[in-house]
Amino acid sequence: MGFSGAPRLMIVSDLDNTMVDHKDKNYTSLLRFGALWQADYNHDSLLVYSTGRSPALYAELRSEVPLITPGITIMSVGTEIRYGDTMAPDLGWEEELNQGWDRDAIVEEGKKLDLKFQVESEQRPHKVSFYVEKDKAEEVIKTLTEKFKERQLNAKIIYSGGLDLDVLPTGAGKGQALAYLMKKLKAEGRAPGHTLVCGDSGNDAELFTVPDVYGVIVGNAMEELLKWHSEHSGDKSHIYLAKERCAAGILEAMQHFDLQPNVSPRDQARSIGTVGEASQMTASTVAHKVVDYLLLMENWLKGGVDKSDTVFSRLKSSLAPDASYVHAFGIITNPYEEIDTIRELHGVMKEKPFCMWVDRVRVEKMSDTTYLARFDKWEKLGSRFGCAITTALLQTKADTVNGLQWKLIQETWLAGYEGSSPKSDAPKAA
Ligand code: GLC
Ligand code: MG
Repeated sequence: MGFSGAPRLMIVSDLDNTMVDHKDKNYTSLLRFGALWQADYNHDSLLVYSTGRSPALYAELRSEVPLITPGITIMSVGTEIRYGDTMAPDLGWEEELNQGWDRDAIVEEGKKLDLKFQVESEQRPHKVSFYVEKDKAEEVIKTLTEKFKERQLNAKIIYSGGLDLDVLPTGAGKGQALAYLMKKLKAEGRAPGHTLVCGDSGNDAELFTVPDVYGVIVGNAMEELLKWHSEHSGDKSHIYLAKERCAAGILEAMQHFDLQPNVSPRDQARSIGTVGEASQMTASTVAHKVVDYLLLMENWLKGGVDKSDTVFSRLKSSLAPDASYVHAFGIITNPYEEIDTIRELHGVMKEKPFCMWVDRVRVEKMSDTTYLARFDKWEKLGSRFGCAITTALLQTKADTVNGLQWKLIQETWLAGYEGSSPKSDAPKAA
């Protein structure tokens, strides 16, 4: 389930047009959020995606945009809950939704009204989905509601995005799935310190009604969610209307609710930090080092930082002079010596749709001065992705960036995800 203790913060976010801005081809805000999460939250907090997409369309989105891996994935509008990297299904939730659910009867009513069914992949065990134009929605919802009542069917209707109409069991939906999850976490003694829910459209409305959550409606929210918000009676002080779009709106809400830290490493010009006592080193400092170092590398390749000795020395001094880089097949080289070749690659990715990010950062303390970091290093150039499963040893060292140096780096590039940057041919620094 990702982090296994009681999460300091749980973020439950919709994906399309909330976490992911489909209008931003550079994924700026998504990358900002991802860097913050990996540096400051992954080690003690829980990220949950709650999407309308089926597992098939969720996988498709992950192959298209730089989304980090969540601890829990709730799909098909709160009807499918999956845990961890293996995405093990919550069978208890499925069992609950089976109670009194007659899927065939819903399909039958849809056909009778000659509604347009969505593609096959979006028809799920506890979800029947249609396309209904905005001007017909009200009438269709009314008729369906009557039919369901007549036949005493256990079903509820959710309209989203001015086009999608979903029919789910009454007990399903994003809100009820979250309530179920929170109850489960509480029973395990893992109630989150804070919970922030994030959404932009109709199927997200329920999220804001779950007790004990903060909520953010992102700046680009759909009319139907804003209408729900304005008509919703009761206390709304826990719901923040962000000015910014998508993930930038989530960061804005973290600032509004004072959920700390809330400044992305991508927005920080980090100074050359000096290490204090080794005892002050934490898992988060080490995770920060991983994120910051890759960011600096990205910036170097993109020409976002000066091609100067000062900047380059930040890259180089982060490597121990006797460091080892273990390539595939066990060949070992010295990255401290090899990094000089990177100097000439300054700016090669300028103006190119290139980015780097890290995912699944995990840190373990090995001794007072040594930490083991494991993470996935990703690169994206246009539609080509590269992923290296990375294991590294870092040592504390005074007067170096973040007070840490890379001692050993081992990378395994995933087949089908070969690095697409010039670094595939050049020695890898991290
Ligand atoms: C996603 C799903 C779709 C659903 C919509 C709204 O787009 O793919 O089936 O209708 O979310 O919930
Ligand atoms: Mg959405």
